Amino acid sequence: MNSVVVVGAQWGDEGKGKVVDYFAKQANTIVRYAGGNNAGHTIVVKGEKTILHLIPSGVLHKGKVGVLGNGMVVDPAVLLHEMEGLSKKGIKLTSKNFFISERAHLIMPYHKRIDLAREKAKSKKGKIGTTGRGIGPAYEDKATRAGIRFVDLLNEKVFEERLRAVLKEKNAYLKHVFKERGFSFAAVQKEYLGYGRLLKRYVTDVSQLLDGMLMKGKRILFEGAQGTLLDIDHGTYPFVTSSNAGVGGVLAGCGVSPYFLQEIVGVIKAYTTRVGGGPFPTELTDAVGQHLRREGAEYGATTGRARRCGWFDAVVGRYGVRVNGFTGLALTKLDTLTGLDPIRICTGYRVGRKRITEFPSDIRQMEQAKPIYEEMPGWKEDIRGARKVEDLPRNARRYVKKLESLVGVPFFLMSVGPQRAQSIVIENPFET
Ligand code: IMP
Repeated sequence: MNSVVVVGAQWGDEGKGKVVDYFAKQANTIVRYAGGNNAGHTIVVKGEKTILHLIPSGVLHKGKVGVLGNGMVVDPAVLLHEMEGLSKKGIKLTSKNFFISERAHLIMPYHKRIDLAREKAKSKKGKIGTTGRGIGPAYEDKATRAGIRFVDLLNEKVFEERLRAVLKEKNAYLKHVFKERGFSFAAVQKEYLGYGRLLKRYVTDVSQLLDGMLMKGKRILFEGAQGTLLDIDHGTYPFVTSSNAGVGGVLAGCGVSPYFLQEIVGVIKAYTTRVGGGPFPTELTDAVGQHLRREGAEYGATTGRARRCGWFDAVVGRYGVRVNGFTGLALTKLDTLTGLDPIRICTGYRVGRKRITEFPSDIRQMEQAKPIYEEMPGWKEDIRGARKVEDLPRNARRYVKKLESLVGVPFFLMSVGPQRAQSIVIENPFET
């Protein structure tokens, strides 16, 4: 297979960083296609933790090419900071191994201020709990044709014209709607043109670049950020991010032909977590929830917020399979469940008197949904040393089999600890 897409199957934070890092070994190029620095991908190599927000985590392997697709919104200050951090670790990004799409949109200072001001103004119930990185406002400008792209930044005159027109409106909006300060044209212009000069050498036509690579038989890994239920179309709207985090985002966000998308791997945690607001039927606020948070270190890689934790939800899992066409799954954090007995799995919801087994579009139904559980016996053995399915205790094997049959797609990989090596590999999609 020449291309593998990795997509989060739940509400993000499924452990995609580790899975991407694993598959990246066999890829030539790793591409981010959606989102921005709202993502936080954590990779642990030889005990050393690296968190990447924008740069594809696969670049931690030597000799890989990293690409930021046009579907992303990029904060150039964050990108430069991340590049500097990698350089300190001996990973040097150059104009030969790192590319940014000309069509990717810039996150501007006003996007961040608007994002934070809007959240502050919302009622407790209405808060989306955004990461505050300006993601929503940047995508909003893209849709209203007020966005500024890398290709615009590289032409000083075009950049200045666009900025002047947009800033006037943003400053008025900040001042009159939120009583917030606006921005000086000269300061933003100077700051961003400086970023443009530093990043210019990486900016290219990514669609053309990837097409050339795929035609030559190079292996490409498309690295998803966030997760299916945060997808602007298929997620728990309005409690979602502002891009197509699911597989649909790859085509729009990179300009590649669907013909090249072959294996689509969903990353799914052995239980469920979510940060930010919005419905979450299997959420646990008791000692079991605390166990999951403590043992799974469930704190946001981007904002440090404690993640909400709950049992595995097979309705969510099946939905992810349907809307993404997963050809296989990577099950993560199975070790976090060690010590819990019994373990519960949600197989459907009760909404009023109705039993539903398909994921509803109506957020109000989701808010009322009461999970219907099946119980499985747990295990106490430390499973972090397991490298084959047979190494797992019987009850862990039964749990995994049950999930597989409920979701209806085989597991390619299971993660039993945060380290690169703490994995059970069943099938590698690049080798099929
Ligand atoms: P935004 O993407 O910052 O606008 O945030 C919108 C929603 O998506 C909030 O609930 C965030 O917590 C959530 N979110 C955004 N990015 C991630 C991620 O990478 N992992 C998990 N949740 C995320």
